[in-house]
Amino acid sequence: MMSSKGVVILGSTGSIGCQTLDVVSQNPDKLHVVGLACGTRVSDMQRQAQKFSVRHTAVGADDALDLIDLDGVDIVVNALVGAAGLRASYKTLMAGKTLALANKESLVVGGDLLMPMADKPGRLMPIDSEHGAIYQCLMGEEASHVRRLWVTASGGPFRGMTTDQLKNVTAKEALAHPTWNMGPKITIDSSTLMNKGLEVIEAHHLFDMPYERIEVVVQPQSAIHSMVEYTDGSVKAHLGTTDMRIPIQFALSYPERWDAPVAPLDFRELGSLEFAAPDTKTFRCLALAREAGKTGGTLPAVMNAANEVAVGAFLQGECSFLDIAACVEDAMEKHKVQRVESIEQLQEVDMDARRCALNYLSDCTAA
Ligand SMILES: NC(=O)c1ccc[n+]([C@@H]2O[C@H](COP(=O)([O-])OP(=O)(O)OC[C@H]3O[C@@H](n4cnc5c(N)ncnc54)[C@H](OP(=O)(O)O)[C@@H]3O)[C@@H](O)[C@H]2O)c1
Repeated sequence: MMSSKGVVILGSTGSIGCQTLDVVSQNPDKLHVVGLACGTRVSDMQRQAQKFSVRHTAVGADDALDLIDLDGVDIVVNALVGAAGLRASYKTLMAGKTLALANKESLVVGGDLLMPMADKPGRLMPIDSEHGAIYQCLMGEEASHVRRLWVTASGGPFRGMTTDQLKNVTAKEALAHPTWNMGPKITIDSSTLMNKGLEVIEAHHLFDMPYERIEVVVQPQSAIHSMVEYTDGSVKAHLGTTDMRIPIQFALSYPERWDAPVAPLDFRELGSLEFAAPDTKTFRCLALAREAGKTGGTLPAVMNAANEVAVGAFLQGECSFLDIAACVEDAMEKHKVQRVESIEQLQEVDMDARRCALNYLSDCTAA
């Protein structure tokens, strides 16, 4: 019989963190929690620790790093938000433990450093539903037979709107995502299509795929989680109910598949599936992220940091929706791209880009 896997959850109080705990409670003989970390909702985390009999907790991204080294930790679920999660991803892989990665920003910023360490199947399991889907479509296939990856996008709450209409949209409107219920940062990223841009870069690193062979298609029902097209013209798609516990559980159960009490997808209820090209002229963040990814080096780290600052400002009502792309573009233009060499270098680049973005936004407010 397989022994129970020890799990550390970084970001346990967030959307992915809480759903990971749900998966643990549905699989009490297969998973147990060794450690929990959060940012600010400490009493929520303490309640979780009590419920799951967890002795080790940490507050803040730096303290969370200590949990990775604990005895009995097999899997680290990185569900932190933003580049703050990079060190945890790095340390998990360095320690030879399985990284179940929701924190896509880790790969966007530090994919060049992380991927060489994820050298064995199952060492780095994506939690993002799109990448979990592609991972499963690729199982049992030859890499040389893959023609293209199709990453699906819901299109977000502002799909179909013009630049003029987007000028005055509010954070409250952006937070009303049509299909997924997620934390605030990723929800704003979904409304700007930056989330899809981050996912294209994530797919490039995870599946070693050139950018020219990664397509984005809007699939508003979010029933198709992504697809892989093969050289013989066959396309494999991954479908399922829009429930993040499915990809979370797969990342934790791999290489096995476990039963899950999720609502099955009823195709008779689903009706039609629509597809459309993304509007990258209006939603410029997707094009900017692609450009950052293609250029490579430290540019994705700059793009990501500027985006984090701008999204934070938008959530506080301190800049407009359209300022987000403008701020990212400004930081990218001002950056002199370097080859990625170390975590420390990436952190410096990240801090410079944050300063640049703050300056840009304060000029916007002053104007
Ligand atoms: N939500 C989804 O459905 C979904 C799907 C795919 C991928 N993802 C990715 O998963 C990651 C997490 O997203 P989420 O939606 O779960 O976010 P969320 O609901 O905002 O939760 C973030 C979690 O991280 C903690 N945290 C944030 N900054 C931290 C720091 N500096 N130090 C320690 N803890 C910190 C938060 O703690 P406190 O709340 O206690 O401050 C919270 O527990 C993101 O990278 C996102 O892009 C999410």
